[in-house]
Amino acid sequence: MFFPLRTILLVSAIGGATAFFAPEVPVGASYDVVFVGGGAAASIIAGSLSAAAPDLHILVLEGGPTTREKLEHIQPARYFSHLAPYSTTEQFVVSNPSDAVAGRNIIIPVGKCVGGGSSVNFMLYNRASASDYDDWDTEFNNTGWSSKTLIPLLEQAETYEVNPKAPTHGASGPLHVSYGGAGFLEIGQQFLDIGPQVEKNRPVGVDGNDFTNKSINVFYRMPKWISGQGTRSDAPHHYLYTQQSNPNLVVSYGSRVTRVLFDKTLTATGVEFVYDKHVFPDYNPAPRQITATKLVVISAGAMGTPQVLERSGIGAKSILSSVGVKQIVDLPGVGETYRDHVFLVSPYFADPNTTTFDPIFRADPTTWTQALAQWDANRTGLIAANGVDAAIKMRPTTAELADIGPEFTARWNSFYASKPDKPLFWLSALAGLPADQTGLPVTQYMSSGCFLGYPESTGSIHISSATDVYAPANYSSGFLTAQSDVAALRWGYKKGREILRRMPAFRGALIPAHPQFATNSTAALTETGPVPLDAPDVVYSAADDQAIDDYIRGFVGTSWHSFGTAPMKPLAQGGVVDSNLNVYGVKNLKIADVSIGPEMVNANTYSTAIAIGANAFQIIAKELGIKV
Ligand SMILES: Cc1cc2nc3c(=O)[nH]c(=O)nc-3n(C[C@H](O)[C@H](O)[C@H](O)COP(=O)(O)OP(=O)(O)OC[C@H]3O[C@@H](n4cnc5c(N)ncnc54)[C@H](O)[C@@H]3O)c2cc1C
Ligand SMILES: *[C@@H]1O[C@H](CO)[C@@H](O)[C@H](O)[C@H]1NC(C)=O
Ligand SMILES: *[C@@H]1O[C@H](CO)[C@@H](O)[C@H](O)[C@H]1NC(C)=O
Ligand SMILES: *[C@@H]1O[C@H](CO)[C@@H](O)[C@H](O)[C@H]1NC(C)=O
Ligand SMILES: *[C@@H]1O[C@H](CO)[C@@H](O)[C@H](O)[C@H]1NC(C)=O
Ligand SMILES: *[C@@H]1O[C@H](CO)[C@@H](O)[C@H](O)[C@H]1NC(C)=O
Ligand SMILES: *[C@@H]1O[C@H](CO)[C@@H](O)[C@H](O)[C@H]1NC(C)=O
Repeated sequence: MFFPLRTILLVSAIGGATAFFAPEVPVGASYDVVFVGGGAAASIIAGSLSAAAPDLHILVLEGGPTTREKLEHIQPARYFSHLAPYSTTEQFVVSNPSDAVAGRNIIIPVGKCVGGGSSVNFMLYNRASASDYDDWDTEFNNTGWSSKTLIPLLEQAETYEVNPKAPTHGASGPLHVSYGGAGFLEIGQQFLDIGPQVEKNRPVGVDGNDFTNKSINVFYRMPKWISGQGTRSDAPHHYLYTQQSNPNLVVSYGSRVTRVLFDKTLTATGVEFVYDKHVFPDYNPAPRQITATKLVVISAGAMGTPQVLERSGIGAKSILSSVGVKQIVDLPGVGETYRDHVFLVSPYFADPNTTTFDPIFRADPTTWTQALAQWDANRTGLIAANGVDAAIKMRPTTAELADIGPEFTARWNSFYASKPDKPLFWLSALAGLPADQTGLPVTQYMSSGCFLGYPESTGSIHISSATDVYAPANYSSGFLTAQSDVAALRWGYKKGREILRRMPAFRGALIPAHPQFATNSTAALTETGPVPLDAPDVVYSAADDQAIDDYIRGFVGTSWHSFGTAPMKPLAQGGVVDSNLNVYGVKNLKIADVSIGPEMVNANTYSTAIAIGANAFQIIAKELGIKV
């Protein structure tokens, strides 16, 4: 891999070895509701339940460390540090090698701390299209999951500081959304300025996130899950920790669930967990059992949830028997239909005078010292930003479909053609190169970043051990196994290049991280400064297209949006939960996290995790007779 995401300094150690021999959080023997995983969705549900029903005894068992009041999670710009190889707040799921990605193992970083992804993610604020949720309802029999239900819940969750009066946005929710504290950095500004001049029928839009086709094919300024006070809008600090004066709510971190326990009637009666050996290396590793009198909710994320199900005996017969787990319910959909937004980052040099995030990514001490002082003084500056300031959700016109080519035709006709609010991809100019820059020139970069909204390829994740919670999963990303995805990204590479090569900050390509065009090709990357706006577009031969395809297979990576591994759909379609989030075949067991998505949504997935959490809270409260 060319860009292993590696060392970033200035990560203060958290979690790690402690000398306690008794649990840091006293965990009782019996609760009404037990959550498996304390990530984005679980924080919202558990916190909301605790606020609505202070007498309800709730236990959240989170495998990773606490995040409470830790600057690593509160200060937005530290997002990159969580990806470091020695990170204690993310887990790295490694795929099987695949020819579709040039024989590579794809590495997927997953949030592993209270708040899960919401406490380590890049804070890009993007919302799905209305038809994404409406499809969940109409195509997969999920009454109560259409955009009509979910959009009001998303409004209630947010305070949209960008424009609190904007339609579909919220003005008083716990999660604040702003443009961040660093103003509009030049790279984003130039993308928004030059983009519409290159893409003549794609103007600047006021909002790229209104759920309708008005958000498609417009260049828009990117909001962030960052408050005007310069802090990360994660789920735990805004839903969960706010309720922790309630003694009935117990959040036990470093507590890794091995399996769900059932009685003879296949009613979930509790869970078994161990203290995580990385968080609490000195604790007794023996499994402990907890009773759940009303409900167990699995919220372990798209990577974690199928593994908990399989260790509990819920899954496909062949997989369970291959590792020696006794099956209790046959659900062949568990761990299948894994999806992510495959992401291609293509770096270019930027004018060295441009302000980018590169010194932050490189852990340049002077930049960090100044930026931290500014954040301390007034909560603004690079610490309160993420370097992603403008983007477009692009959908091809009929004429452009010819440019993408015949490999994409069938996918277009079956999936996109009748749904005008579905974009093909999200495209942005990132202010910097978010990767390990060891060995690269120390200068400023800008990158074209393109992720597919709805890849056709799917993968899978399954357990490789019946009992060992630390055993690496058997994970196949499935990335680029459908050629339509390669064709779509090829077009995305070309679109990004046409805009970026005209931006005033453009200073040429970082060639090793681009397609290897023949030196005599018209597509060769020879420019070292911006070309005129009316310069002709680059012409690509069949050999050039092949070079792009090879490049895509060699470089594509995750968007960190793992999804859909325990889908909410009818049993006969491979479903794992029904539309009330009940796991088929058992009682008192629900799933509430992004693994329930029966079909992909086009946007970064925190927003969808919030929608799922908020709707799950409504469903659970209603069943438990709690007034909301
Ligand atoms: C690096 C990164 C960058 C991202 N960037 C963005 C972005 O910019 N914008 C955006 O919208 N989205 C982004 N996302 C995606 C978003 O954060 C996730 O989609 C979202 O957090 C998913 O929520 P969830 O509740 O389904 O699961 P998660 O938030 O992943 O929570 C699952 C939790 O379960 C815990 N767990 C797993 N197994 C067990 C077990 N056996 N026992 C106990 N606990 C367990 C995990 O430790 C984790 O804390 C990013 C994600 C990552 C990882
Ligand atoms: C950077 O800015 C300075 C002064 O504004 C100018 O003299 C110099 O040429 C610029 N450098 C580049 C590489 O554009
Ligand atoms: C915040 O402080 C920095 C100096 O540290 C200053 O440049 C900036 O203008 C201040 N911003 C606000 C909004 O006060
Ligand atoms: C956008 O959606 C509206 C309403 O759903 C529809 O009338 C219109 O035709 C759509 N526009 C395009 C370009 O598809
Ligand atoms: C891993 O899963 C794949 C299916 O994706 C399967 O073919 C393979 O046999 C599994 N490997 C192991 C060791 O179970
Ligand atoms: C480039 O050079 C190769 C031989 O090295 C030749 O086969 C090819 O036709 C040339 N292409 C162009 C566009 O000149
Ligand atoms: C569709 O959902 C309803 C409940 O909303 C349920 O009664 C019905 O059995 C479901 N149909 C299928 C095929 O799963």
